[in-house]
Amino acid sequence: LISRAFRHQFIIPDWPDFTKHIEDSYWKCKSNSEGKVASYIPQLARMNPEYWGVSVCTIDGQRFSIGDTTIPFTLQSCSKPLTYAIALDRLGQEVVHQYVGQEPSGRNFNELVLDYNKKPHNPMINAGAILVGSLLKTLIKPEMTLAEKFDFTMNYFKRLAGGENLGFNNAVFLSEREAADRNYALGFYMREHNCYPDKSNLREIMDFYFQVNLFSIKDIKKCPITEEKVLKPDSVRDVLSLMHSCGMYDYSGQFAFKVGIPAKSGVSGSLLVVIPNVMGICTWSPPLDPLGNSCRGVQFCEELVSEFNFHRY
Ligand code: DON
Repeated sequence: LISRAFRHQFIIPDWPDFTKHIEDSYWKCKSNSEGKVASYIPQLARMNPEYWGVSVCTIDGQRFSIGDTTIPFTLQSCSKPLTYAIALDRLGQEVVHQYVGQEPSGRNFNELVLDYNKKPHNPMINAGAILVGSLLKTLIKPEMTLAEKFDFTMNYFKRLAGGENLGFNNAVFLSEREAADRNYALGFYMREHNCYPDKSNLREIMDFYFQVNLFSIKDIKKCPITEEKVLKPDSVRDVLSLMHSCGMYDYSGQFAFKVGIPAKSGVSGSLLVVIPNVMGICTWSPPLDPLGNSCRGVQFCEELVSEFNFHRY
C-alpha cells in the first residue's frame, strides 16, 4: 500500500469507503423527481426521466460506475470545454481570447448577446462555442475540409476518453440542425460583428458546432486509462477556470458558491465535474431544472461536497 502511494497510484486509498458514499448519494438523488426532459427535439424528448447514472475516474485510474451508465447519450454542451481545450492547446490562450471573453454572461446560454468588445462572453455558452469551433479550422489548419475537421476533433476527444465511450449520433445531429434558428441567428450576428478570424463559411461553422454537440466523452485532462497527456497543463487550468465561473448556465455563480468545483452541464442531462488533481465525474440524468442543469446531477454535486472537503475554498 505504501509503495503504491509513493508511486502516486492510490489517490483515494480508502476507495471502498469512498464508493459507498457515492452509492449512498446516488440513491438519495434517484428519488428526486424534479425537472423536465428537454423537448426541443424528439430524440431528447423521448428520453426516460428515470435514467440516472454516475461514473467516477480518479487520476490514477480507479473507476466506479453506478446506475444507467451504458445507455448512450449525447454530450451536448459538455463538449464545449473540450473544444475550447483543443483550441487553447493548439493556439494558446492569447490567440483564443482575442476572439472570445472570459466573463459569465449573466444571461441564458443561447441569448443573442455579445460583450462590450463585441465578442462572445465565454466559450461555455453557444455563441462562444460556435466561435471557438471556427478557430479550430481557420487558425489551426485552414486547408481542412469539414470532414477532416470532424475527424481531427473526434480523434482528440477519443484520446481524452482513452478511446472508450465515444460515438456520434447522426439522428440528433439532423434534428438539431432543423431546430437551430437561434444558433443560426447567433452565427449570423457574430458574422455581422466580424467576430470570426476570417470571412469563414458559416454553414460549415454551424455544422461543426452541431456535430461536436453530439459526441460523448467521460473525462478531461491526462487520460487516466492510457496515461497519455493529451493537453498541456496550462490549457487544463484555463478550461477548469472557465468551467468554474461559467459552466452551469445562469446558475454558475450559485454553483461556484455552494459546490465550488469546476463543472459543465449539457441539455441532454449530462454533467462533467472535475475535482482537480483527484478525479473526474460524469453524471447523466435527463430531467433539467428551469436553468437547464440536470436536477439529479446538481443534487449529487451538493451531496458530494457536503460529505467531502472538495469545495475549493
Ligand atoms: O446548441 C443548442 O442549443 C443545443 N444543442 C443545446 C446545447 C446545450 O447543451 C446548451 N448549452 N449551453
